[in-house]
Formats: sequence, structure tokens, C-alpha cells
Amino acid sequence: MTMTQEQLKQAVARAAIDYVPQGIIGVGTGSTANFFIDELATIKGRFEAAVASSEATAQRLRSHGIQVLDLNSVGELEIYVDGADEITRHMHMIKGGGGALTREKIVAACSKKFICMADESKLVDVLGKFPLPVEVIPMAQSHVARELAKLGGQPRLRAGFTTDNGNVILDVHNLVIANPVELETQINQIVGVVTNGLFSQRPADVLLLGTTGGVKILR
Ligand code: A5P
Repeated sequence: MTMTQEQLKQAVARAAIDYVPQGIIGVGTGSTANFFIDELATIKGRFEAAVASSEATAQRLRSHGIQVLDLNSVGELEIYVDGADEITRHMHMIKGGGGALTREKIVAACSKKFICMADESKLVDVLGKFPLPVEVIPMAQSHVARELAKLGGQPRLRAGFTTDNGNVILDVHNLVIANPVELETQINQIVGVVTNGLFSQRPADVLLLGTTGGVKILR
């Protein structure tokens, strides 16, 4: 039976529920994370509260009556559950299609385990077909764009978009991402960059991959 991308996202979101601990959960952003939040709403009482990676996620959690805590008021989280725009078998990811990359990276950094939920279209051999989002302090936009071009990419300003942190996003097209760990550092070193969407220094620990044959678990 063929399944739509939406059905695959829903299936991985359901599978992620098995990883929910009793305590506080880090929750990602995007359409797959939204399915996960809706699943969380069905098991309220089995966990304590959540930390959100964006304003949109916080709002959706609250709309289900799930308590949202400030990251600074909690210790290390057991798990962070989120989607990805691309992921490799080495668990390196591109994230930030929804523009929440900075807060996602922060919550992921504070979590013992990163559970990534993705439909099979997101699994790639090499990252970079999906344009790499880079969050930038607005006054540094031109400078950062020139530096990204030196790295071989074609940065494009995400028009009409401001992040939850008040910054802009440059989506970098046509980057050759042969070494994601190195490139993640290189981009972070450009003055004016807040974060880039490469999650290779903090890769996922578990990938729940939605396929038409069922949800596969990769580690
Ligand atoms: C949000 O900023 C992103 O990192 C999302 O996690 C990513 O874009 C996946 O989104 P979907 O689940 O909507 O495909």
C-alpha cells in the first residue's frame, strides 16, 4: 500500500511516542513535530512537561494543555524529538526549513538523546540538495552572504521571514557538503552568523524512518 508523505510523518510521530520518558521532553518544530505534539496530547499524564524549540511549537503544546517550561528552569533533558529536512546514515542533518534552527540546536544540545522523525524522502547519501538555512544578525546579512559565496554556495535571503530571535535567514543553495562537521564549524566562524542548519556535531541518535513498508529504526 502506498502512503502519502503526510501519512508517513504521522506514522513516525506515533512511533516516537515509545521514546517519551516520564519527565520533561524537548520538542522540535515543523509539520512532523506537529504530528508528534498531537500524539503527545493523547498520553498526557505519562510525562511531566515540555520544552519548546519555537514559539509555534510552544503555542501548539499549550493548545493541547501541555505545560511548556523555560529551558533555563530545567536540567538536562532525556530526549529531544524533531524532524529534519535531510538526514544521512551517519545521522548528520540539515534542519531549519521552518526557520527554528537556533532554538532547535539549543534544545538538542541540552538533551541526552536526539530522536529524529523523517519520512523516507529525507534520507540522502550526501547533504546539500536542500538549501542550507543560516540564521544571521540582520546588519551582517551582506557580509555573511559574501562569505558564504566564497564557500561555494549561493545564498538567498528568505523573503519576508524573521526568526523567533529577530534575525534573518539566508538559504544557501548548491553547497558541496563533503565534510559536514568541518563546514558546520566554518560557517559558524563567520561574524554575524547565529547558527547554521547543519546538525553534524550533534547528530541524531535514533532515526525513525517512515517507509511504505513501515517505520524503520536506524541508530
Ligand atoms: C524547522 O526549523 C525544521 O528544522 C524542521 O524540523 C524541518 O524543517 C522538518 O520539517 P517538516 O517536519 O515540516 O518536514
